[in-house]
Amino acid sequence: MPPPFDDEAIAPAAAVIAESFADYLNRLSVAVRGARRHFERCDWQESQRDSAERLDYYNERVRDGLNRLHGLLGPRIGDRDTWGMIRDEFARLMHGRGDRDVSETFFNSFTRRVFHTVGVDSSFEFVRPGAGDDIPAGSGPSLTVRFENRDGLAAMFREVLEGFSFEAPWDDAEGDAHRVADEVERELNGITAVKALELARPVFFRGKGAYLVGRLFTATETRPFVLALTNPEGRIVVDAVLTTVNEVSIVFSFARSYFFVEMERPREMVALLRAILPHKPAAELYNAIGWNKHGKTELYQSLLHHLATRTDRFEIAPGQRGMVMAVFVLPGFDVVFKVIRDRFEPPKTVTAEEVKQKYRLVFRHDRAGRLVDAQEFEHLEFDRARFDEKLLEELCTQCAERVRLRDGRVVISHLYTERRLVPLDVYLRDADAVEAREAVIDYGQVLRDLAATNIFPGDMLTKNFGVSRNGRLIFYDYDELCRLDECRFRALPPPRDDDEEGAGEPWFYVSERDIFPEEFRNFLGLSPELLAVFLEHHEELLGPAFWLRMQELHARGEVLDVYPYRSARRLRWRARAAERRPDPFLSKEPKP
Ligand SMILES: Nc1ncnc2c1ncn2[C@@H]1O[C@H](COP(=O)(O)OP(=O)(O)OP(=O)(O)O)[C@@H](O)[C@H]1O
Ligand SMILES: [Mg+2]
Repeated sequence: MPPPFDDEAIAPAAAVIAESFADYLNRLSVAVRGARRHFERCDWQESQRDSAERLDYYNERVRDGLNRLHGLLGPRIGDRDTWGMIRDEFARLMHGRGDRDVSETFFNSFTRRVFHTVGVDSSFEFVRPGAGDDIPAGSGPSLTVRFENRDGLAAMFREVLEGFSFEAPWDDAEGDAHRVADEVERELNGITAVKALELARPVFFRGKGAYLVGRLFTATETRPFVLALTNPEGRIVVDAVLTTVNEVSIVFSFARSYFFVEMERPREMVALLRAILPHKPAAELYNAIGWNKHGKTELYQSLLHHLATRTDRFEIAPGQRGMVMAVFVLPGFDVVFKVIRDRFEPPKTVTAEEVKQKYRLVFRHDRAGRLVDAQEFEHLEFDRARFDEKLLEELCTQCAERVRLRDGRVVISHLYTERRLVPLDVYLRDADAVEAREAVIDYGQVLRDLAATNIFPGDMLTKNFGVSRNGRLIFYDYDELCRLDECRFRALPPPRDDDEEGAGEPWFYVSERDIFPEEFRNFLGLSPELLAVFLEHHEELLGPAFWLRMQELHARGEVLDVYPYRSARRLRWRARAAERRPDPFLSKEPKP
């Protein structure tokens, strides 16, 4: 019999979790200050390293906390009633705090590691972490700062730049304020006057950029507003101003790495971002601000809500079947579910563990706006009746290691979720000539953007790219992806005689890492018209020189950043476009 509620071990156990949580918050805070310093000092390599490392802090803190709890609770660590009491005590400790949402997710990370709970267990877990907190869709006074337009836009933006200071000086605050004012006026067509600007006080840091984020109020509307800052040479520059939902939504894309941003109340920050980008699910916004564990909680909650309020069934995803993944969807839900198959047909040589490693590699890498974020879930359970028969058969026969049936339920021990896109092969089938052309141009741009961040996608067939709501191409098939600097790019040796010329198989030695860009032409699988479009814009991708040059840049330790806006948006770039010729090798022009 477990001892009653006033058990001596309960309060110390809850305190251990609260301390682990506090440690985590401190660690994050240090990391955000680090991100600011890296930005101010142009320490791009450190910034990259920290981006990957900070993803470990959460699990490290949970692991340490659990070790302490083992010592404290002994065998009772496996007792559900004990955990029910620890939960209630932990809730008491967190009462009234502005970060209850993420703290409850943090608590559940402990119980999930102890019990491998299938679904959620209401007897000792927080069933809906953070639900019920009443934060208005807007922002508290301390989260944001407001600037009124009293003496003209340029004066207001001057005041903004003065309000946000960095260790490095502004390169040209006066000039930037005017350029921003001109740009905003042009965007608004000069018809409606800007009344005020509201900005989040915390600065958002990511890669080589820093972002001031908020909204602009005019007499007739509220618009999103982002100032993108860069630090090319130790002096801070306003690189771009973005004022449309589409553009700002690309800055907060699920295909980007997470921001470093300081905040006490994540939920309040998400509420502000939702007011700016109403179509973005809360889950994605939590991810974007670095609370990806709680993003998973939110995604799971919205899935449960969907299942409870709708009647659609899980079915096989549209498009071509994967050889490695069984992929399925709920037609009314914006997410795909991917389960690793038990066996892969040739020519696939990877193992399930290697597939997971590839997903981990992507998770930790700069995703450059071109690699979809995947969430890893364990021990999910759904009603069997919600599954289409064909899908269920596929899962039971080909994914038996991860999917089983139990008491009318489908239990899935491991899956990935990703934002649902339109597979490019499907998209091209229905696209008109202009859409197809744009997609193919962007297809080449994806390869450039990924190369800029030291990634080679591997399997380049159109079926492995998706088209987002904004018409951007995003890659999602990771089992053949690798770091660019681990590949060996080679030119095809010329055949020495007719026999070699006609040979179906290569007559020269090819190792696993060898890549022959001249062969991409065949892999692309484009119609002759679309191949011509591709060649017009990206012919250099079909020879080794481009790839070798990119490898050289990475070998020199250069960190290339793919900006989340078009170069036409870059204020100074535009001013000087006439003087400058862009380096054709560098990809810095993501298309919105
Ligand atoms: N995020 C997504 N949005 C929409 N559809 C997707 C998504 N991810 C996968 N799919 C669909 O599922 C199919 C298989 O997914 P994926 O390419 O990731 O698996 P795979 O087994 O690695 O594929 P391959 O056989 O090409 O190696 C895709 O071809 C596509 O039709
Ligand atoms: Mg695929």
